[in-house]
Order: sequence, then C-alpha cells, then structure tokens
Amino acid sequence: MAGAGVAEAQHVTIDRVWPDPAPGLSDDALVEALRGADPVLRVNFVSSVDGAATRDGLSGGLGDPADRRYFELLRRVADVVLVGAGTVRAEGYGPLRVSDASAAWRTANGLTPHPVFAIVSGALDLDPGSRIFAEAPIRPVVVTTAGHDVRAFAEVADVVEAGAGELIDAEAAVTALRDRGLARILCEGGPHLFGSLLAAGVVDELCVTVEPTLEAGDARRIAAGELPHPRALELAHVLRSGSTLLLRYRRR
Ligand SMILES: NC(=O)c1ccc[n+]([C@@H]2O[C@H](COP(=O)([O-])OP(=O)(O)OC[C@H]3O[C@@H](n4cnc5c(N)ncnc54)[C@H](OP(=O)(O)O)[C@@H]3O)[C@@H](O)[C@H]2O)c1
Repeated sequence: MAGAGVAEAQHVTIDRVWPDPAPGLSDDALVEALRGADPVLRVNFVSSVDGAATRDGLSGGLGDPADRRYFELLRRVADVVLVGAGTVRAEGYGPLRVSDASAAWRTANGLTPHPVFAIVSGALDLDPGSRIFAEAPIRPVVVTTAGHDVRAFAEVADVVEAGAGELIDAEAAVTALRDRGLARILCEGGPHLFGSLLAAGVVDELCVTVEPTLEAGDARRIAAGELPHPRALELAHVLRSGSTLLLRYRRR
C-alpha cells in the first residue's frame, strides 16, 4: 500500500545512470532534481517489465524498497497528491501523511508539513467518516461533479466541482487545484484518472518505476481509457537500484 515501508526503504541505494552518472544519491540530491519549474503535474506509477500495474489487484505487490523511497520523495515536494477514488478504495488509503523527515524538509522549505490529499470521485462512493478525513493532518479536497449532495463531505473536506455527469472534467479539476495555490500536483493514479489527465493534455511528467518482474495475466496497465492520439515523451532521467529502474519522462 502507498507509503508503507518508508523507514526500511530509507537505506536502499539509488544511483543515477543518466544524465550525469552518480552513485548512492542522497535524499537531498534526489529531491533537488525533482524541484525546478512549477507548476507541474507529475504522475507516478510502478509497473512490471511486461506492463502490469498491479499484482493481485494492488500496486503494493509490485513496489520494492527503491520504489517506496522514491514514492516518499515525490510526495515530499508536492503541494497536493491527487488520487482517483478507484485507487483509494482498492488500496485502502488512510490519511495522507509524509514521514517525519519529509515533514521537516517541507517546513524548512516553506511548505505545509504534509501535502493536501485530493480525491477524485464522480459517484462520491467514499465514507466521509473514514480515517482519510477524520485523521487528515491537512484538510483534504474532494473533487467531484455538479449536482451531488455534498453536505457530509463539506464538513470534513473542501469540495471542488469540476464538470458534470459521472466523470470529472480533468482540466477543470487541475485548474481548480491551481486556483487554490496548489501548483505542484502529484498524481498517484490510478489508470483511469491518469487516462483522463492524459486526454485533457495536462500531464507534464511521468515517473515510472520498472520492477524486474514479469507478471503476464490480465493485470491492467498504468493508463486506461481512450486517447485521440499517442502522447510522445522525452526521457528526463534514469535511476537504478539493483535491477529496478526509476524512469522519469517529460511531455515532449
Ligand atoms: N501501479 C501503480 O502504480 C498503481 C497506481 C494506482 C492504482 N493502481 C491500481 O489501479 C487500480 C484502480 O484503477 P482505477 O483505474 O479504477 O482507479 P482510479 O483511476 O484511481 O479511479 C477511477 C475512479 O475515479 C473516479 N473518477 C471520476 N472522474 C474521473 C475521471 N474523469 N477520470 C477517471 N476517474 C474518474 C471514478 O470514481 P467514482 O466511481 O467514485 O466516481 C472512477 O471510478 C487498483 O487496482 C490499484 O491498485 C496501480
């Protein structure tokens, strides 16, 4: 599950392969490369070599300590973590809370101790009494469509309307987050939300951890839905931890 095993992951070595090869990067060196121009909408996924985004229906089965270390650092630099309700339900997300080291870094760098947790749901099939809301260190955001009775959610979160119907308007959702001063958006999936963001043309970067495993079967890929045309990417860096690759791409 997202965020699990962060303490154990601190000790795993991550090397930069390209550009500027460098061994054993520190958290600060890894984070430095993730800062830079904002606003940015960055998406993060883990995948097997044969493109599976899940094992036994969950991403956590695929992730290793290197993925978990990097996952935490991506959160460290984000203003908001955006997640689809399908992933929240499947992965059993709790309140979004970064590690003590990340919270200290954030505070020292003028950010809130934890990023805002923004959940995308058209159906609002979420429990407003869940730990996500009750134990949130920062008031979460619920992004939904117009016409719902949102009173229960409005008590525990800021509710943002983006579009109408079953699916939120991805572009409107991103604009609404930016209007709230949340410039650095980290999307942790899942595949349907990523597909919608791609179709809306708002994705700037993709971080994908390629785990050295072949899963076969019918596991889903990291992106779902229809795209009018393929999106070309440009490689931004290649990190390596043992046989695991941590790739970062930019929109071309
Ligand atoms: N490999 C990885 O790194 C990774 C990362 C994340 C998730 N996953 C896996 O992906 C699976 C979940 O996949 P998913 O595609 O169902 O999850 P998802 O993209 O997180 O959630 C889809 C849900 O988001 C809501 N939604 C509202 N508007 C939307 C829009 N415009 N576009 C897309 N979604 C919108 C809908 O929820 P409502 O029904 O509430 O309206 C929809 O059912 C899980 O098995 C999870 O483990 C893998």
